[in-house]
Amino acid sequence: MKFAGSHILSISQFERAEIEHIFEVADRMAPYAHRQRITRVLDGAILGNMFFEPSTRTRISFGCAFNLLGGEVRETTGFEATSLAKGESLYDTARVLSGYSDVIVMRHPAGGSVAEFAAASRVPVINGGDGANEHPSQALLDLYTIRKELQHQGRDGIDGLHIAMIGDLRYGRTVHSLSKLLCLFSNIQLTLISPQELRMPAEIVDALRSAGHTVVESDTLEQSLAHVDIAYATRIQEERFATLDEALLYRGRYRLNKKIYTQFCQPNTVIMHPLPRDSRAEANELDNDLNDNPNLAIFRQADNGVLVRMALFALILDVVEQVDSHARDVNWYTERRFE
Ligand code: NCD
Repeated sequence: MKFAGSHILSISQFERAEIEHIFEVADRMAPYAHRQRITRVLDGAILGNMFFEPSTRTRISFGCAFNLLGGEVRETTGFEATSLAKGESLYDTARVLSGYSDVIVMRHPAGGSVAEFAAASRVPVINGGDGANEHPSQALLDLYTIRKELQHQGRDGIDGLHIAMIGDLRYGRTVHSLSKLLCLFSNIQLTLISPQELRMPAEIVDALRSAGHTVVESDTLEQSLAHVDIAYATRIQEERFATLDEALLYRGRYRLNKKIYTQFCQPNTVIMHPLPRDSRAEANELDNDLNDNPNLAIFRQADNGVLVRMALFALILDVVEQVDSHARDVNWYTERRFE
C-alpha cells in the first residue's frame, strides 16, 4: 500500500513488508518519544482526535505522538459534546471536520463506523477502535512490543511463536486485530482461552488456520499457559453485552496472578494486556501481584504506542525523511524514564 494520504482502518490492509517498515520508522522515533530530541516536522499540522467511547491510552498517546512531531491537536470526546447528539450524520461530520484537520483519529462504538466516516473525509482517518471490530494501531503496537520483548531476551522474530490470548475474545477488538496481523507471519501457535460464549469469531480462527497457524481453543486458564512465549490477557468488554447481568457472568473468570504464572508459565513468558486492566476485586484479570515481574510488559507496551503512532503519522503525512532535519536537543532536564 501507499502510506502517504491513506486511511488506516483495518489490519487487513497491510502486507508483511509494510509492517516491518512501520516498525523501522517506529524505531527511528525513539529519541523524540523518549524526550532526548525535539522535532517540529509537523509544525502547522492539526490532528482531529475524535473519541466517542472512553479512552485513556489511545486518545492521549495519539495526541502526544502528534505533538511530539510538532503538530497541534484538536479533540472532542463523547457524543454529547458534538452535533452527532443533534442528529448529524457521520457523513456531514466527516465533511466538516476534515476541513479543519490534516488527519483524523476516530473511536466509535459501532463496527464499521470509522470506515463510513473515512469514506466522507477529505483527509486520512485512523481507526482508533470501532466497536468490537478492530483496533489496528493497538495490534501494531502489540506486535512491536512482542518483537522488542523477544529481542530483549536475545530472541529474534515473530515466526514460530506460541501466543495465548485470554479473556473476552468475542468482543475484544484488540485480539481481533492482533490475530489478523499474525496471519501475515508463519508457523504461530495460538492458544485461545475464553469462556465458550466468548470465543474468538469463527472467521478469525479460520483465517489463522488458513495462514498455516495452529489454533487450540480452551476454556481453562492454568494448563493452557504451559509453553507459551506470550500471555496476552484482556478485559471482559462489559460495555458490549446486551445487559450488565450477562457480562457479570464472566467477570473474574480468568485471573492471571503470581501463583498461576509461577506454577504454569515459563520463567520468561511475556505478560501483555492492552489495558485498561479491570482491577476491581471481582474482576482482576491481571493481578497487581505481578507488578514487579520483569516480564510484565504492559507499561512498556503502552509506551510503545507513542512510537508506533508517531510512525503512522509520519508515514501518512509523508515526512519520515524530514523528521531528523527539523530536530534539535530538548531544552529541559529529562530523566531517563524509558526502558
Ligand atoms: C482496548 C480498547 O479500547 O479496545 N484499550 C485500548 O485501546 N488499549 C481494550 C479494552 O478496552 O479492554
